[in-house]
Amino acid sequence: MSFPKDFMWGAASAAYQVEGARDADGKGEGIWDALSYGHVQYNENGDVACDHYHRYREDVALMKQIGLKSYRFSVSWPRVMPEEDVINEKGLDFYSDLVDELLKAGIEPLVTLFHWNLPMWMQEKGGWENEEVAEHFERYAAAVVERLSDRVTWWMTINEPQVFATLGYVVGAHAPFLKKPEALCPVTRNVMLAHGRAVCAIRSHAKRPPKIGMAPTGGGVTPFEDTREGIEAARRQNYEGEQGEPFGNSWWMDPIVLGIVPEPLKGTISADDLKTICQPLDFFGFNIYNSQNYEGRVENPYMYRGVPRTAMGWSITPECLYWMPKFHYERYHLPILITENGMANCDFVMLDGKVHDTQRIDFIHRYLLELKKAVDEGIPVIGYQYWSIMDNFEWAEGYNKRFGLVYVDYRTQERILKDSALYYAEVIRTNGENL
Ligand code: NOJ
Repeated sequence: MSFPKDFMWGAASAAYQVEGARDADGKGEGIWDALSYGHVQYNENGDVACDHYHRYREDVALMKQIGLKSYRFSVSWPRVMPEEDVINEKGLDFYSDLVDELLKAGIEPLVTLFHWNLPMWMQEKGGWENEEVAEHFERYAAAVVERLSDRVTWWMTINEPQVFATLGYVVGAHAPFLKKPEALCPVTRNVMLAHGRAVCAIRSHAKRPPKIGMAPTGGGVTPFEDTREGIEAARRQNYEGEQGEPFGNSWWMDPIVLGIVPEPLKGTISADDLKTICQPLDFFGFNIYNSQNYEGRVENPYMYRGVPRTAMGWSITPECLYWMPKFHYERYHLPILITENGMANCDFVMLDGKVHDTQRIDFIHRYLLELKKAVDEGIPVIGYQYWSIMDNFEWAEGYNKRFGLVYVDYRTQERILKDSALYYAEVIRTNGENL
């Protein structure tokens, strides 16, 4: 076996992280625009970011040069709905033009409806703590789908609920920067209801048969030993152990995909809620960067000092791209789409004017070999989105963490294809045969 012929090789981004254009063409404020001051390294923000809003043509040309088959981006809710119940057509025009540009370049658009920048008008009503959010999200989803679905097939409702629910409402590190643990259960429920209602809105408004999923994060535990016991222990950890808690998988995806409510959420999610939450999905998307074995969350008998880490400090554990697609497929029985995977590296422009990011090349190579192993074993993996197409605003970390295939000089907005972009181009050209 090898990667399927129509495998969706791609790269990803998110609106707040790349677009900039904070006030352009009637955009409203989001929680990252309004509340992040004082919470981000060096007090950086997304006001300008990569100025992708004005430079998307140049960026799509770079994607075409790399040979991307698909591009995952998100639509900014406050750009499209600057005020309650107000649709900003100019905001929608931007995404419509972006989709046209992608299709002209032969690149399939994969659209995420929510990637963290909640409109301020919704935050003022309680944000994700207020169950009204589900109804508003449904209306927003309907407006986007009305406008784009004549050309867009692939939809993801919500990105990494794990992160914005816990970092946003419990830890206070991401917008809305609250430390309010009692909000976690209501927020969980409202996110799930919003997801369910958005899935229905996509299905009923889509002008072509849609493919719908989500993009939770999939940090997981991989087996310490490749024995039956080792594998079952990892599986248990992933879905019932710590990983079954709010930062893990099953807390979110068991109700959403299987209609099963994990123990700690009984009392929060009713049988009636489940009817909204558990909608049929077409694929199981997830963002995955590493296994949790070396992150101090699980007891690891093989832990060692000096384990390889990225510039984020995350361990480099390629085997997660074999085990987690396999585990998730065996549990959720849906085709797998890797909606994010990648690394931050200490990239800079070298004396020859190029960015020689050999670590990233090796990272992509190793991770994809593991993904290929899953494909070889018959796990239906339909695509891989490298995070990110270009360097961008890494939330509380600001701009000094570079994940891109394309280097961005934020002083001039000059783009440079890193060596890894050229390597990835070759992976795509050979459909993974060069790995
Ligand atoms: C997950 C998030 O979806 C994305 O916004 C973020 O930049 C990357 N992972 C890297 O942390």
